[in-house]
Amino acid sequence: MIRILMKSIREYKKASWLTPAFVTGEVLMDIVMPLLVAALIDQGVSAGDQDKIFYYGMWLTVAAITALILGVLSGRFAAIASTGFAKNLRRDMFVNIQSFSFSNIDRFSPSSLLTRLTTDVTNVQNAYQMIIRLLIRSPLMFVFSIAMAFKVNAELAGTILWVVPGLFVGLFLIIRFAHPLFDKVFKIYDQMNNVVQENLQGIRVVKSYVREDYENKKFQGVSEKIYRNFMKAEKIVALNSPLMQFSNYLSMLLVSWVGAHLIAAQTMTTGELVSMFTYVGQILMSLMMLSNVFVMVLIARTSTERIVAVLQEKSDLTNPAEPLETLANSEVEFDHVSFSYCDDVHKLALKDISFHAKSGEVIGIVGGTGSSKSTLVQLIPRLYDVTSGKLLVGGADVRKYDLSRLRDQVAMVLQNNVLFSGTIAENLRWGNPEATQAELERACQIAQAEEFIATLPEGYETMLSQGGTNLSGGQKQRLTIARALLKQPKILILDDSTSAVDTRTDRLIREGLKKAIPGMTTFIIAQRIASVQDADRTIVLENGQIHGIGTHAELMAHDQIYQEMYNTQQEGFK
Ligand SMILES: Nc1ncnc2c1ncn2[C@@H]1O[C@H](COP(=O)(O)OP(=O)(O)OP(=O)(O)O)[C@@H](O)[C@H]1O
Ligand SMILES: [Mg+2]
Repeated sequence: MIRILMKSIREYKKASWLTPAFVTGEVLMDIVMPLLVAALIDQGVSAGDQDKIFYYGMWLTVAAITALILGVLSGRFAAIASTGFAKNLRRDMFVNIQSFSFSNIDRFSPSSLLTRLTTDVTNVQNAYQMIIRLLIRSPLMFVFSIAMAFKVNAELAGTILWVVPGLFVGLFLIIRFAHPLFDKVFKIYDQMNNVVQENLQGIRVVKSYVREDYENKKFQGVSEKIYRNFMKAEKIVALNSPLMQFSNYLSMLLVSWVGAHLIAAQTMTTGELVSMFTYVGQILMSLMMLSNVFVMVLIARTSTERIVAVLQEKSDLTNPAEPLETLANSEVEFDHVSFSYCDDVHKLALKDISFHAKSGEVIGIVGGTGSSKSTLVQLIPRLYDVTSGKLLVGGADVRKYDLSRLRDQVAMVLQNNVLFSGTIAENLRWGNPEATQAELERACQIAQAEEFIATLPEGYETMLSQGGTNLSGGQKQRLTIARALLKQPKILILDDSTSAVDTRTDRLIREGLKKAIPGMTTFIIAQRIASVQDADRTIVLENGQIHGIGTHAELMAHDQIYQEMYNTQQEGFK
């Protein structure tokens, strides 16, 4: 798992190595300094030798300044390495997310992906910075300090070692109990982001239903949950500090007590006792740093798992080895197709669908809400793969095509389609980056968008806000149709794409489409029978199955659901 993460370090390897190198130098200085202090006291102060005081004082200054410089350098490189690593991680995740299919995204949920890209990466970044600075430093300092303490006075050093195992056990227990809590906290983070995302996306609905209070409560609920669990975890981690303090005082006491005896017995000098204090301090300090690293790694472990899951997720729609580039014709054939969103044959969204659309045909699709109309057409540009059966597009199995080439030739206007921030022209050119102004205008003419664009003061250069919120629903729909037309597709799918435009415009769009691209097969999903009345054939779906298929006249004669839809819609006009 770590190895997968490490791949993202890349150009920051150098900084990652320089940091511990500088840290090692810093530690060496920290070790040398107490020795110099001891010599200064014993040979200088106690002996009253001015020259010695000056000599050792100077070396002490040099060591201190060197330590300072090395400290600054290691800090600097640690920052470069960790932030760079985080940047690469985010990019790698993002690139992989772009390759995700709809079902990959269904599996993670967008809000969880967002938490993983932000909070989780920050956790790993912090942990990484600590690891390269402290994971080398603490053990090094620990080992050196112990060695030096033994060198100065073995008997005294031996007594402190009694404190260390106790400390270890304490730290181990802290980590053991805190880890599951941190795990939980991150899952709740996902929930919180979900609440926020849903709220912001639907803010208009929230306001129009005056649901603010309810939403506030929902948010408070999750943030309260985070607070409670985080607090519990932090409470355990906070025990770290009293544990350290206790060990600190205990060892100071031991050193003073044993040290006093040794000095009285004249087996140790005062200078040695002073340096002993420093070493003991360093031993404990290194253990404390190590425990901090462990806590950080603990938090980051959960985040690491979550990041690696995104990095390792393979798109379940893959290109074949020798992909076909172009559709031979505009035919679509469903051959006993069944489909399940969760790959479960007992929960089929589509059951045994078979029909054949010839090139140039206009196929209407109607059916109650939830009858799987959108599901059916989403299989054609291979947004999902069929669970069983066969789907032929342009004469070949849809899985044989290069994915992006297929989607260039099968244009789909999604039911909940979005526009992006940018000008109208920029949005339209998503369909074809090379489209000329004349082509844009022609597409807009067919989609009946020309008229309202002309009324905008800046016309095609009008800026759209994110999601196109400064346009009306019907205006947005017309732009998304124009955008799809610019692809010059062989197959065009309109999923309820004219639901927000008036019936007259709806008719004009359909008439325009017929003449727009010769030979183009068109699928029109609609709620209004009027939208599919002049289609060559219409499919009536019910519960994911074909209930009836035929022309308007045929369905009026034989299909009960179609008749009912027609009759209820006619009543509205009486
Ligand atoms: N991404 C998804 N994951 C799991 N189930 C889904 C998903 N999308 C749709 N479904 C389910 O599949 C069924 C058919 O949904 P679909 O969107 O195809 O209906 P529809 O006919 O297009 O409805 P509408 O007229 O409201 O647009 C529904 O029961 C729905 O709950
Ligand atoms: Mg739908």
